[in-house]
Amino acid sequence: MEIKKLEDLQTLVSLSKRRGFVFQSSEIYGGLNSCWDYGPLGSQLKLNVKLAWWKAMTRRSDIVGLDAAILMHPTVWKASGHVEGFSDPLVDCKECKNRFRQDTAMVDGKVICPSCGSDNVTEPRDFNLMFETHMGAIKDENSVVYMRPETAQGIFVNFENVQTSMRKKLPFGIAQIGKSFRNEITPGNFIFRTREFEQMEMQFFVKPGTDEKWFDEWKQIRWDFYKTIGLTESKLRYEEHGPDELAHYAKAAFDVQYEFPIGWQELEGVHNRSDFDLSQHQKFSGKKLEYFDEANKEKYLPYVIETAVGCDRLCLAVLCDAYREEITEKDGKKDSRIVMGFHPSLAPVKVAILPLSKKPELQEISHKIRDDLSLEWNVEYDETASIGKRYRRQDEIGTPLCVTVDFDSLEDKAVTVRHRDSMNQDRIPMEQLKTYIFDKLQQF
Ligand code: GAP
Repeated sequence: MEIKKLEDLQTLVSLSKRRGFVFQSSEIYGGLNSCWDYGPLGSQLKLNVKLAWWKAMTRRSDIVGLDAAILMHPTVWKASGHVEGFSDPLVDCKECKNRFRQDTAMVDGKVICPSCGSDNVTEPRDFNLMFETHMGAIKDENSVVYMRPETAQGIFVNFENVQTSMRKKLPFGIAQIGKSFRNEITPGNFIFRTREFEQMEMQFFVKPGTDEKWFDEWKQIRWDFYKTIGLTESKLRYEEHGPDELAHYAKAAFDVQYEFPIGWQELEGVHNRSDFDLSQHQKFSGKKLEYFDEANKEKYLPYVIETAVGCDRLCLAVLCDAYREEITEKDGKKDSRIVMGFHPSLAPVKVAILPLSKKPELQEISHKIRDDLSLEWNVEYDETASIGKRYRRQDEIGTPLCVTVDFDSLEDKAVTVRHRDSMNQDRIPMEQLKTYIFDKLQQF
């Protein structure tokens, strides 16, 4: 058997539309550049990705959750450095009027327009990536608020609220999932870089001096997480930021990179943010944010180890990683099937119930099984088309198990369970079906 992995994103874009994972936003109006909608299967996949991350974080005794507002006091973004420094250098081509990022258009030390090839371009100007809007009825410079460009600041400004209300002692972390917005100059590559996206960020507050140890620990924890959700380990690597690549807040930074069809790209950042953010918020708000360490009778500003991953980007990695085309040849005839080999914890549909015919006796048992299994898992019922076609569809949406109800089921009170990856089939008594599925889904 020949196995082809995903070679280009376009194949995934088509599959996503065909099978209800991801659609172009506002498609009937011609679409809105770099905005995407998650369909029924995509939204379930995304929810499963978030749940996997949320559980991995908040089921630890030293991490709690938070859900902060998208709109924050404008001074937050002055303190964080985003008003001053969160910008890309933009230049305009004087020949064709194209506007582009200077740093992506350097050829032999010269800025060359990627559209027409001219070097007749303007001096660079800083373009701030934050989206602005106005709060209240009057639209003037005093009513400007920003759509948050990262979720992290909601965590920093709530450090004291969380620490005192939850009676947390250092070290402890705060985890948050939420939307962020960046007016990216060059968005693209499907859901890889968009202007509206979701982040899953965790800030781990530690005693200064222990930060390097925790930084190493979190690098390992995050690596293990990606293994747990089934990403291919050989497609993951860590890349360290050089001194000239470090963000303004970072003392040290590593990216978890994934090998997408567009090459190795950042999936997650693990950063040592030192006490940069808390000390900036202390300065700009005038409110003390120091932690009192009762055991040692010491006061200090904690250091922060941050893990930050884009949920959409992780969904893209999961989709790319899951895709495979299996090509078999028998008696000179080629056959192929597309399989989304999701880890069962992420698969949008866990079990499909497929009655062999639409006869009422089979429908009745199948509906009963569906109702019973739906109490535990997301289950799909399908009685259209041939059984072969229905298996292919379930393979393509990554359903780990299919339950087929046939005429023998009426007599032997058993059903056939077909496995996505091996295509093996087992005959299982209906009364043992639930336990069997529990076992199989756990064995992956
Ligand atoms: N709080 C730190 C922070 O926001 P970042 O490296 O700018 O760090 C973290 O972003 C993660 O968010 C990235 O690794 C990426 O997965 C995701 N991300 C950032 N910009 C994105 C965009 N425009 N579209 C999709 N995901 C994005």
